[in-house]
Amino acid sequence: MLYRSLIRPLLFLFPTERVHYMTMNALNVLQGFPPTRWILRGLFSTRKAEDAKEVFGLEFPNRVGLAAGFDKDARYMHALRSLGFGFIEVGTVTPRPQAGNPKPRLFRLKKDEALINRMGFNNRGLEAMVENLKKRPKDVIIGGNIGKNKDTSNEQAVEDYVTCFHGLHPHVDYFVVNVSSPNTPGLRKLQEKGPLLEILNRMYREAGQYEVQRPILLKIAPDLTDTQVDDIVEIVVESGIDGVIATNTTISRDGLQTPVTAIDSIGNGGLSGRPLNQRATEVVRYLSDRAEGRFKVIGVGGIHDVRTAQEKLDAGAALIQVYSAFIFEGPALISRIIRGIRTAP
Ligand code: FNR
Repeated sequence: MLYRSLIRPLLFLFPTERVHYMTMNALNVLQGFPPTRWILRGLFSTRKAEDAKEVFGLEFPNRVGLAAGFDKDARYMHALRSLGFGFIEVGTVTPRPQAGNPKPRLFRLKKDEALINRMGFNNRGLEAMVENLKKRPKDVIIGGNIGKNKDTSNEQAVEDYVTCFHGLHPHVDYFVVNVSSPNTPGLRKLQEKGPLLEILNRMYREAGQYEVQRPILLKIAPDLTDTQVDDIVEIVVESGIDGVIATNTTISRDGLQTPVTAIDSIGNGGLSGRPLNQRATEVVRYLSDRAEGRFKVIGVGGIHDVRTAQEKLDAGAALIQVYSAFIFEGPALISRIIRGIRTAP
């Protein structure tokens, strides 16, 4: 309540991307001092044995995670852990640092409680992320979401994924192969059968070099047809990877309340938040029905309260993630969802 009525209106006075770094840096400062860290944890973090769940052989403190793109360089893991997340997906990281698209590139649709972004994998690169991950919190699950640099061709893309995989392997608990961002030109073509099978087979082979097997997941777009999702199921099963994250942002602009002129003036980008909820749940259900226990699904897209969180779980998601609603509803949303969802079977 306090967040929506007092804090949010203040924060929303600033450009969207700047607010992100302002608030997260402030949280990092609070996190740095034991008394304020203690207050943060007291307010937001709920650690109860019955919230925990084992998925992919990993013990998740709870089933509510932070989706990729929020902590692109693994700079805020400790603060985010204090806000109650059971797992944090860092990245998308690319082998080399890159600036991303020109600003502005992140837009709020307040009426729709949605965001449009065309960040374009801005990140400080693999090396910088590894340095940060050396100081990672141990009592939360960390996923590494990996991608390719913009100037790497699709033919060479697999090498970028492999580089990130090996670089992060000692430091993260699971991996996500991201081929579904709409903001790197041509990236989503890697969701097609041929290139996707090549990448996933290679990842699976590379993973075989290690004693510890880290789960590998694939993150997909919500804009695929059923036939394309059928292909994804086949490829995931054939390659032997562990799961699918559904979904990334959408390029659709259907059903928005924000006036068309405003939407048009924003331009290209991926839409996230409430308007994505239903489609993302459909994809989660479609995948879960066809998985037949052979892989697990993480549900993400438009979760904004206990009901929509429970819907994703009921559709078959083993775990869920949140991004946009964390901005619109504030940090208390996370503990509210953790407390409100039914205990895992
Ligand atoms: C994202 N998302 C994202 N996903 C990903 O795999 N790699 C990334 O780098 C990013 N970056 C990113 C930036 C911004 C500003 C947003 C809003 C989103 C997608 C995100 O992880 C998630 O899949 C979608 O946002 C849908 O969830 P919500 O936001 O509707 O809860």
